[in-house]
Amino acid sequence: MKIIGTGSALPKKVVTNGDLESFLDTTDDWIVSRTGIHSRHVISDERLEDLGRDAALKALADAGQKPEDIDLLLCSNVVNEYMTPGLGCIIAAAIGLHCPCIDINCACPGFIYALDIADSYFKVGKVKNVLVVCAEEPSRMTSWQDRATCVLFGDGAGAVVLSEGEGVRSVRIGARPDPDKIWQFRPLEPTPFVTKTETGVPLQMQGREVFRFAVTASVEDIKAVLAEAGLGVQDVDYYMIHQANLRIVEGIRTRLGVPEDKFPTNIADHGNSSSASCPILLDECKRKGLFKPGDKLVFSAFGAGLLTAAALVEW
Ligand code: ACO
Repeated sequence: MKIIGTGSALPKKVVTNGDLESFLDTTDDWIVSRTGIHSRHVISDERLEDLGRDAALKALADAGQKPEDIDLLLCSNVVNEYMTPGLGCIIAAAIGLHCPCIDINCACPGFIYALDIADSYFKVGKVKNVLVVCAEEPSRMTSWQDRATCVLFGDGAGAVVLSEGEGVRSVRIGARPDPDKIWQFRPLEPTPFVTKTETGVPLQMQGREVFRFAVTASVEDIKAVLAEAGLGVQDVDYYMIHQANLRIVEGIRTRLGVPEDKFPTNIADHGNSSSASCPILLDECKRKGLFKPGDKLVFSAFGAGLLTAAALVEW
């Protein structure tokens, strides 16, 4: 399969570190030096489904495809306003798709997990075109009194259209199951039968452990997808790393020994938008004209689960 179109959409509300200083015990200096984040887009009066719809429509237009051309929608999402149906069905209805819709909850590597699932559908000949939409609102998961988590995240949606072809050369997905590192409990209504304690808890994260996992797992994944394709780290034109923390991206870059200009970033004005991070970065770089045909792109992402994934794409 190959990527034939990209799109993205962001909430209009921009929250700067200075805005956060007004109600949190934090500083612009702390946030910038520990994360590289200056501001983030945060849902206000939009709905996440509208961002997903807009990203999907832009990707379809970019690909020159109509809704009826799409054989499968894969939607990567952790939380949204609906418990059911899946966000993919809501977006499909909004853009006039009539194909099967599958939602996946694979946290930050969800985009690459979706590529892996799509790859299998292409390989058995079940699809000709697949729409992947990653739509996330982590700002609705964190407590805005918890300075250790809420400063890190931003909302948004990114989408790609995949078609038959040779572009995506290698995909690797993996897990080191360890749910206690990043987790959240949703609030539940009591029933007449439940006797255990159930309490809604906002997003919890063991930041340092996640940091270490992210750098180690990403470097391992990247080397594995490159080895599968018979390539070395210097053969890659651009490393498209999940935008979780600039220091994580820098840790991966220095361990690989690759120059800075091969690591495009947008975390400074996006924060971590979970699985939407990689397709938003891809769309922004593409629209800036960064890629030329034949460029080799490596995607790598890591997050709750703990899940990890990487992919090698020839543009
Ligand atoms: N402002 C000021 N001080 C803060 C803030 C803040 N926003 N947040 C935490 N601190 C304080 C802490 O309370 C702590 O104070 P103490 O020393 O008095 O206890 C001090 O700063 C240092 O905290 P650490 O957690 O040790 O700081 P660290 O350098 O590890 O950075 C961070 C924390 C940014 C969370 C880092 O660990 C990180 O980025 N980890 C990876 C997280 C990640 O990538 N998560 C996303 C992947 S999964 C997903 O997307 C769901």
